[in-house]
Amino acid sequence: MTRAPIAPYPALRPRRLRQADWIRRLVRESAVTPSDLIWSMVVHDGEEARVPVPSMPGVERLSVREAAKTAVQARALGIPAIAVFPHIDGRKKDASGSEAANPDGLIAQAVKAMKDAAPEVGIMCDVALDPFTDHGHDGLIENGRILNDPTIERLVEQGLMQAEAGADILAPSDMMDGRVGAIRAALEAAGHQDVMIMAYAAKYASAFYGPYRDAIGSSKALTGDKKTYQMDPGNTEEALREVALDIAEGADMVMVKPGMPYLDIVRRVVEAFAMPTFAFQVSGEYAMLMAAAQNGWIEEERAILESLAAFKRAGCSGIITYFAARAATLLGA
Ligand code: PBG
Repeated sequence: MTRAPIAPYPALRPRRLRQADWIRRLVRESAVTPSDLIWSMVVHDGEEARVPVPSMPGVERLSVREAAKTAVQARALGIPAIAVFPHIDGRKKDASGSEAANPDGLIAQAVKAMKDAAPEVGIMCDVALDPFTDHGHDGLIENGRILNDPTIERLVEQGLMQAEAGADILAPSDMMDGRVGAIRAALEAAGHQDVMIMAYAAKYASAFYGPYRDAIGSSKALTGDKKTYQMDPGNTEEALREVALDIAEGADMVMVKPGMPYLDIVRRVVEAFAMPTFAFQVSGEYAMLMAAAQNGWIEEERAILESLAAFKRAGCSGIITYFAARAATLLGA
């Protein structure tokens, strides 16, 4: 970008443009709106309508019926899409995550109920086995190793089931190599050419997923870590390779995850690929903000909106966030 020469003080006084709300609004470079938000939400297969997630104050696991209501709420708030994550009864989990592709399972039911209730709201599903495996990993395991290609076969079945149920966006979050291409090919072959893929392209092995694993009930199950498939937090160039691969394999949109600690990656991905780029403000980011707010250490509402504005400033098309409904309400007020 070419820049005009900057006049020295006092010709240029940057504070002139900050003196009143109207002029601050007029010169603002980026802003978050409800249209930028994907509402991250957990559904469960239990009896209760809503079960609080202790490490995520304000987040609840919802029954299918409640989830349908939130789709209506999203529409009213101007939130374009919901990302739905499952918490299933531990007795349904096994080593291969066979429940993941169940056409009558929790995710299929939730997607159908939400699409019935509010067809105008986009529904995004995670393609990954970890909510369904008894070991909490995203892949099949043999002798302690996560198997790449056999896992892809399961992910394809899972993705097809989600598309069949009416999901609009599939979001592979497993970080197996080659899964985007396999899922794209399977969708095309099955006549689901309009189903979109948002690849968790640069997904890091992060401590910030802790509360999510509580939310979906995999934290006690998980043995070891995910470092053989999720990325090393020290790497940037590798993120660009991961994103390039997923785009080449047919990703319509890409994602960087976690969000706030990885805004440098967001910026580089936006600049390098000019593709719709999203960030996931993950469970640990949510928990941090809420914990500080509940202690009275930060101003909750301002901090929420400021954290979301950061993603837009970095160049994101949108943000997947547990704050979506709160933020949309604040923005509309
Ligand atoms: C599953 C998945 C995870 C998240 C989204 N999809 C957890 C993980 O990879 O361990 C994290 C979401 C969050 O922390 O809010 N593969």
